[in-house]
Amino acid sequence: MKKEQILFYLTKAAEVLEKANANYSHFPVGSVVLLESGDMYVGANVESSSYGLSICAERVALTSALTASRKKIVYIFVIADCEVPVPPCGACRQLLYDYAKDAKVIYSNLTFEYIETTVKDLLPNAFHSDMLNQSQSRK
Ligand code: THU
Repeated sequence: MKKEQILFYLTKAAEVLEKANANYSHFPVGSVVLLESGDMYVGANVESSSYGLSICAERVALTSALTASRKKIVYIFVIADCEVPVPPCGACRQLLYDYAKDAKVIYSNLTFEYIETTVKDLLPNAFHSDMLNQSQSRK
């Protein structure tokens, strides 16, 4: 993807970041999930007074995309107002691996210093659904 397009999607993610409900951490995050069809789904983090129930921007965007369409996910963009670009957390990496194994990930700060990687590179030696069928306890 060309830099100009990357900046377009990161700008969308930055707009979504404004919608974050980060009342406890004060760490708003925005995300865009792009499908191969060109359709785009957005998410921002939503936090809970019961902290552990909070959900990351990436999972909001991903679940929104999965609810709307079965089309392949090709890119996930993440942005936060942080000195260093903020990559998806461990929980998000697993869900991204489950549903968007071949996607690319671009994470950035608000000055658009971004890093390009892939879901596979973010979660080496991933647990995956094939392993469920290999369980000896299923027999
Ligand atoms: N968070 C995200 O939404 N995405 C990330 O990639 C890192 C962390 C959220 C979770 C929580 O609402 C806040 O940022 C602080 O951890």
